[in-house]
Amino acid sequence: MKTQAADVKDVKLAPEGQNLIDWAAREMPVLALIRRRFEKEKPLAGRKVAACLHVTSETANLMLTLKAGGADIALCASNPLSTNDAVAAALATSHGIKVYAIRGEDNDTYYRHIEAALDHRPEMTMDDGADLVSVLHKNRQEQIAEVIGGTEETTTGVVRLRAMAERGVLRYPIIAVNEADTKHMFDNRYGTGQSTIDGIIRATNVLLAGKKFVIAGYGWVGRGLASRAKGHGADVIVTEVDAVKALEAVMDGFRVMKMEDAAQQGDIFVTVTGDVNVLDRAHFAAMKDGAILANSGHFNSEINLKALDDMATGVRQVRPSVQEYKLGDGKRLHILAEGRLINLAAAEGHPAAVMDMSFANQALCAEHMAKHAGTLEKRVYDVPEEIDAEVARLKLRSMGVAIDTLTEEQKKYLSSWEEGT
Ligand SMILES: NC(=O)c1ccc[n+]([C@@H]2O[C@H](COP(=O)([O-])OP(=O)(O)OC[C@H]3O[C@@H](n4cnc5c(N)ncnc54)[C@H](O)[C@@H]3O)[C@@H](O)[C@H]2O)c1
Repeated sequence: MKTQAADVKDVKLAPEGQNLIDWAAREMPVLALIRRRFEKEKPLAGRKVAACLHVTSETANLMLTLKAGGADIALCASNPLSTNDAVAAALATSHGIKVYAIRGEDNDTYYRHIEAALDHRPEMTMDDGADLVSVLHKNRQEQIAEVIGGTEETTTGVVRLRAMAERGVLRYPIIAVNEADTKHMFDNRYGTGQSTIDGIIRATNVLLAGKKFVIAGYGWVGRGLASRAKGHGADVIVTEVDAVKALEAVMDGFRVMKMEDAAQQGDIFVTVTGDVNVLDRAHFAAMKDGAILANSGHFNSEINLKALDDMATGVRQVRPSVQEYKLGDGKRLHILAEGRLINLAAAEGHPAAVMDMSFANQALCAEHMAKHAGTLEKRVYDVPEEIDAEVARLKLRSMGVAIDTLTEEQKKYLSSWEEGT
């Protein structure tokens, strides 16, 4: 279907998409509670929202929550390979959301879809990687005055937006959803940790036990991935540029070394740094025949595919998400999902249970933004502490976990300095 109101692969996929949306909803109780409140209170009544997110069943549940709050929404993909076409069809046909996303879309279509979402003339942007903010600032400056603010989902987007704020070019306030404890400690660590392994296994069906599994970056994502790879019996090697993170990896029981050394040993390499060319020409030259290379960082810039292309004498598709690059010496290197987010390109992204928290933060931050329209400065804000605490409280409640509360005596003790032993 291609109209001004939508560009999705095939509307006939809508019933399948609705089943996926309902399935994800079963694991998203916090978002469901927020949705019920939004239905009554309509905190986003009449607000035009443009969202550039991975078009998955979990995102669909966020869109339905915003819609329940009264928002008028356009949605485009934040990655050409992460769209679920059935979910896109269901949102476009049954829920009145303008969806512009087709799995596997080329670069031109990807940006045409971002422009289409911006044609919606949003008052709020919701990004995963800062593409909406960046295109608005570059191509549509005349529209910026209409925007009250935006939210950003991922580490890489927050880095880009902070750079814009520091240079004084950010022209509206952003809430960095990624910085909420209930986002990065769970989504990045447990969600990406599990789904990256899932993507690698679905793409290759290799056994992880006994493999040398090299992880570049020991941030939130790297930590989650390392512990899960270890759980599968892999021999995990970590590379880092930050001494504290490297030390943490050592004390967590992993081998830490330079990538130039790890390159010679690894069977599987995964980049999760948010950086560029972390795997580069010299590393490809040092790698073993048959090595598998994947990325789960936001952009497909962590593996220098251009350099690999130059070095290759031939490239062929050997499985749906696996390309084999043959080098001059006959060695074969395997790139998964064209170096794009492996957990979304070859698997289904994060399980709904963690996206429940990330997207509860998104929904509550959108409400916060609408409530404080016109009063926030043009900078990047952390998620308000009360929102973070509320998401954790609701999640625990939905899991049937009760925790203690401080007694008056304990409150007094913890806020005083006079008492010692
Ligand atoms: N696949 C997904 O669904 C998903 C989910 C969440 C985050 N992300 C992305 O994953 C990336 C990492 O996120 P994070 O939250 O772990 O970030 P983080 O900032 O916590 O960690 C990144 C780590 O990489 C290290 N690093 C930077 N350059 C390096 C290099 N050249 N070699 C080795 N290490 C290097 C940094 O020192 C840091 O410790 C980001 O791009 C983020 O947007 C992806």
